[in-house]
Amino acid sequence: MVRTAVLVSGGGSNLQAILASQLFGEIQNCNLVSVISSNPGAYALDRARAAGIEVSVVDVSTFPTKRTFNTALMQKLGDLDIELVVLAGFMQVLQRPICKEYENRIMNVHPSLIPAFCGPGQYGLHVHQQVLDYGVKVSGATVHFVTEEVDGGPIILQKAVDVLPDDTAKTLQRRIMEQAEWEILPKAIDLFCRGKLTVEGRRVRIDEGA
Ligand code: GAR
Repeated sequence: MVRTAVLVSGGGSNLQAILASQLFGEIQNCNLVSVISSNPGAYALDRARAAGIEVSVVDVSTFPTKRTFNTALMQKLGDLDIELVVLAGFMQVLQRPICKEYENRIMNVHPSLIPAFCGPGQYGLHVHQQVLDYGVKVSGATVHFVTEEVDGGPIILQKAVDVLPDDTAKTLQRRIMEQAEWEILPKAIDLFCRGKLTVEGRRVRIDEGA
């Protein structure tokens, strides 16, 4: 069983999707050891507690620098002997030492079709507002491995979602979560934990065999 930590900062609907997929047996060989939040007030922590998962808080506001925050987070992951790190609405940038230590073992869900509408400062509703302002007709979600380049790592799964004429950032966000994120993030975790992912340069090969 792959020892897994889910890192969160906010509402935790992606965490909830992971928990539901585990209950339905759709994620195999995954031991969800801990949910770690950068924000002590995150509703995701309540969701984790309700599911009986151990929680910890590495409160970003208590650290003098991003570097010391990253060091504390890496310590926590090491203490828990974590093998897979899942960023599910985690709003902090991971710096080089963590990215190197967990190379191709950290995955993130981003609410657009990377490489569009991504990179530094692109998170949450900002992404969907930019999609609307640009006028694209299709957006979606991406799960990718994390490197020190924000949203720049090898892509594992993507799913497209139509942008509708009357969408607001909120309605688009919700539809992309429901139709894409909540499906592809649990699926990517399952593929990883069953050893079905191989990274070759920028490309992730998926072994579709049983
Ligand atoms: C999700 O839409 C996720 O893709 C996005 O934040 C939301 C978190 O929702 N993440 C990013 O924008 C990261 N760049 P949740 O807390 O309900 O899962």
